[in-house]
Amino acid sequence: MPLSGPTISVLVLALSSLIAATVFASSATARVAAATVTAPQNGASVILLAGAGGNPPPLDAALVARGATVYAEHCARCHGEKLEGQANWRRANAQGRYPAPPHTDAGHTWQHGDPVLLADIMDGLPLPNTDMQGFRGKLSSNDQAAALAFIKSTWSPETREYQWRMTLTHHLWGGTGH
Ligand code: HEC
Repeated sequence: MPLSGPTISVLVLALSSLIAATVFASSATARVAAATVTAPQNGASVILLAGAGGNPPPLDAALVARGATVYAEHCARCHGEKLEGQANWRRANAQGRYPAPPHTDAGHTWQHGDPVLLADIMDGLPLPNTDMQGFRGKLSSNDQAAALAFIKSTWSPETREYQWRMTLTHHLWGGTGH
């Protein structure tokens, strides 16, 4: 019997709640609810399970400070001193390659959960034709995480919350955060 759209939605919600209940059950203060979160920039929404731990964890100040240095030395030449990205970053150039996008709220970095972003930074983008090369062997994983923490420190609270939910979604649902 084929399942109708609404039936699937209900099933997904029920399954989500179950997974969330399992994940958050160990916390004494856990409260679990399925919620829809809407991206401030483009209205895209993700259904996510908010628990008591629903807010993004605060960024580590020392990591952010280190990340500012790493960013300036290794990322700024493409992504811009102010994380503004390169000109016409939405359009591929004559070689079919995309310019570096901004890492601010104006870009799309925030649309991906941490596992995707950390993999992008470690190994480059999983695309055949890209200028984003990875930093494996060039930067320690701590410095790679620091660069990401610095990038996050520039985001609005709404963007931070959305990206945190993408991170949770990735862990709960196994990698749909790309
Ligand atoms: C040589 C230029 C260059 C350098 C240096 C560089 N990037 Fe990139 N980066 C790019 C380009 C170009 C893209 C987009 C590539 C594409 O779409 O094919 C990109 C994309 C990304 C993305 C994916 C964004 C998204 O929305 O999917 C992340 C994350 C990223 N870069 C992080 C970094 C970090 C952190 C550093 C420094 C440690 C860095 N990049 C250094 C050129 C660069």
